Amino acid sequence: MLVLLLLSVLGSTHTAVALSSNHSLPPGVTLSGNIRELDGEEFEYIVVGAGAAGAPVAARLALAGASVLLVEAGGDPDPTSWVPAAFLSLYGSDMDYQYETISNNVSCLSLLNRACQASRGKCLGGSTTTNYMMYVRGNRHDYDAMNITGWSWKHMEPYFLRYEGLQDLNLLPPSSIPYHNTTGTMKIEFFKQSNDPWHSKLINGYEALNFPRNPDVNGVSQIGVSRIIGYTYNNERMSTARGYLGRDDVKRKLKVAKYTRCTGVIIDDDNVTRGITVVHGPSNATLRLYASREVILSAGALVTPQLLMLSGIGPADHLNEMGIPVRVDLPVGNNMKDHALVSVFIKVEDKLNLLKGILNTAEKNSSLASILLTRGGSIGVTDVVSFVNTLCYDFDKRQLTGNSSACELPTTQYFHLYADKGMIAIRGPEIKIRMGLDDSVINQLSEINKKYAVITVSTIVLQPKSSGTVRLASVDPFQPPAIFPNYLSDDRDVEEIVRGIRITEQLTQTPTFKAAGASLMRLELKGCPSSSQDSAAYWRCYARHLTYSTFHSVGTSALGRVLDARLRVLGVARLRVADAGALPRLPRGNTAAAVIALGERLADFLLDDNIN
Ligand SMILES: Cc1cc2nc3c(=O)[nH]c(=O)nc-3n(C[C@H](O)[C@H](O)[C@H](O)COP(=O)(O)OP(=O)(O)OC[C@H]3O[C@@H](n4cnc5c(N)ncnc54)[C@H](O)[C@@H]3O)c2cc1C
Ligand SMILES: *[C@@H]1O[C@H](CO)[C@@H](O)[C@H](O)[C@H]1NC(C)=O
Ligand SMILES: *[C@@H]1O[C@H](CO)[C@@H](O)[C@H](O)[C@H]1NC(C)=O
Ligand SMILES: *[C@@H]1O[C@H](CO)[C@@H](O)[C@H](O)[C@H]1NC(C)=O
Ligand SMILES: *[C@@H]1O[C@H](CO)[C@@H](O)[C@H](O)[C@H]1NC(C)=O
Ligand SMILES: *[C@@H]1O[C@H](CO)[C@@H](O)[C@H](O)[C@H]1NC(C)=O
Ligand SMILES: *[C@@H]1O[C@H](CO)[C@@H](O)[C@H](O)[C@H]1NC(C)=O
Ligand SMILES: *[C@@H]1O[C@H](CO)[C@@H](O)[C@H](O)[C@H]1NC(C)=O
Ligand SMILES: *[C@@H]1O[C@H](CO)[C@@H](O)[C@H](O)[C@H]1NC(C)=O
Repeated sequence: MLVLLLLSVLGSTHTAVALSSNHSLPPGVTLSGNIRELDGEEFEYIVVGAGAAGAPVAARLALAGASVLLVEAGGDPDPTSWVPAAFLSLYGSDMDYQYETISNNVSCLSLLNRACQASRGKCLGGSTTTNYMMYVRGNRHDYDAMNITGWSWKHMEPYFLRYEGLQDLNLLPPSSIPYHNTTGTMKIEFFKQSNDPWHSKLINGYEALNFPRNPDVNGVSQIGVSRIIGYTYNNERMSTARGYLGRDDVKRKLKVAKYTRCTGVIIDDDNVTRGITVVHGPSNATLRLYASREVILSAGALVTPQLLMLSGIGPADHLNEMGIPVRVDLPVGNNMKDHALVSVFIKVEDKLNLLKGILNTAEKNSSLASILLTRGGSIGVTDVVSFVNTLCYDFDKRQLTGNSSACELPTTQYFHLYADKGMIAIRGPEIKIRMGLDDSVINQLSEINKKYAVITVSTIVLQPKSSGTVRLASVDPFQPPAIFPNYLSDDRDVEEIVRGIRITEQLTQTPTFKAAGASLMRLELKGCPSSSQDSAAYWRCYARHLTYSTFHSVGTSALGRVLDARLRVLGVARLRVADAGALPRLPRGNTAAAVIALGERLADFLLDDNIN
């Protein structure tokens, strides 16, 4: 998490701008209206938000010949975002909403104001333009467990396959073939192989703990250590902006209103949705836009509930408190689930000094161009991911031993990052601002990193028991919502993290790690017992300090609770939701794949339901 890749150390945004290729996206439309009446145009469909779900919904409708307006608060992505290795530089940038959240005092304690951060992409492609590009669908059991008619894995699988354009099927075993499609619009491929020696060392380490080497987390099994596939194509990011909106056939047909912010949904006295209100253009004019068929909210799990509540759809007591007339009393913003993440740091002696190597190359070539061109697609060790059910791990034998069917359901996912010697010191002030970490933690990491390389291992709780809420902070649509993630409020999540960290501790004692003099850093944290006195208590306390989010929030306008099985908002007509908030539960893995599939599926619903 903390570690910034070489590229973000050396490559300023300007360098990347000059270098990155020019993916052509649809031009923006200027919306006009009768200024006095504030009435704007009418479309058949209006889709709010051009992210993981909104882009596929709008593109599919447009391709089917419908008149569609896609409304997006942001604009075109900054060219840096095309370069996979620059992903960390997008965090906290102009393309990131970087919402503040409300502290629960038991998580994120080493962050400023003891509050977690909530990153979300603000541009075409939404968070698929700023995310870590890991292509993971989750476990098929997660979909069956939704227990909603028509939403089992059997029903969802065709939608995952519909958009997948896997370029590297030949690198997967034959058993993987039925699980993939090679011709879908979202072209994906393995991240370019990095030269980072820790790439293979990490895999060796996990193998020494009897983690199977899993060739395909989206195939037969999820368990083990894997090199995962990325949302990249020709070594550049494959966002939904590129995969859907950049297509020539879509560009010809779809209208996209950029820098246009939806402020509410227009619903008439008969509970029929008529359109939306937006603020658009350089003068921030407010316009009413009309949809003759349907409005689709795809503004993400944090903003869609805000728009619903502003429009009178939400928990009655909260709406009353905010002075908003209640149209439909629904549990909007409740049961928000997200993958909490805790990072630990392993110091390793590293003979190879990548940073120095790159600096030398840069000096010789006098141009940072070569670095971007040769390393732009590689992403260090971030494509090494492992999945495990920690209850199937034998801590005495130091082995993953269980192989029952329950052990096929992972409880923990690990991410990895490598920081070359000296990197944290160089980037300290920026890390502090962007990541919001307090001085004491930054200073300790920076001190160690002066002498050692640091491998960050992040433990993710895949099925957290804790849940949070989204509420209105204000009736002003320009104010961000009140986000209360409430990570680690259930102690069982902390126990899962501690088991995860214990496995990482044993990873550092495997032969490959020992040979590199590896050891797990025990940061001194204010308010935590010393690790030598009570190591279990120390790691529990540590987890509550070094908590981060994986930015996978779901459930805030969920299927079954707020939406019917065709993603229609209950109690009003012609209003649907497709985004991460519509997922009633977290998949065991990263969320974008499921959210894109949801967008594909909603397009089918709309086209089916509106034919008659
Ligand atoms: C830093 C980060 C890393 C991640 N890493 C991964 C990963 O490696 N793999 C993975 O699968 N998932 C990852 N995720 C999660 C994944 O990207 C999200 O789950 C997914 O993008 C959510 O899709 P969405 O459609 O709900 O919202 P988004 O993709 O966020 O799209 C919402 C869109 O709505 C727009 N919008 C918001 N409010 C308004 C408004 N009022 N009016 C108009 N437009 C509006 C936003 O600007 C945005 O474009 C990551 C997320 C983040 C933030
Ligand atoms: C990018 O492409 C667009 C449309 O094809 C073109 O107008 C623009 O000049 C290009 N920009 C660059 C930097 O090549
Ligand atoms: C967290 O602590 C602050 C300061 O003591 C307090 O105001 C706030 O209500 C607490 N929050 C929760 C969720 O307990
Ligand atoms: C699934 O839903 C049905 C109907 O709502 C309910 O009766 C049943 O108990 C649920 N099953 C599980 C495993 O939750
Ligand atoms: C694979 O993708 C293509 C292109 O989108 C699509 O036509 C085809 O139906 C997909 N295959 C499967 C099995 O879904
Ligand atoms: C609108 O929906 C609300 C909540 O479902 C209901 O109480 C009200 O009667 C509806 N109004 C009309 C005109 O249907
Ligand atoms: C329009 O709104 C944006 C964002 O709130 C603000 O930065 C800008 O100054 C506003 N422009 C005008 C002309 O009011
Ligand atoms: C210098 O960088 C360019 C790309 O900008 C590359 O083609 C060339 O091979 C590099 N030269 C050396 C000596 O590395
Ligand atoms: C699972 O474990 C049992 C008992 O240890 C062993 O006999 C069996 O071969 C294992 N099966 C697999 C698929 O590894």
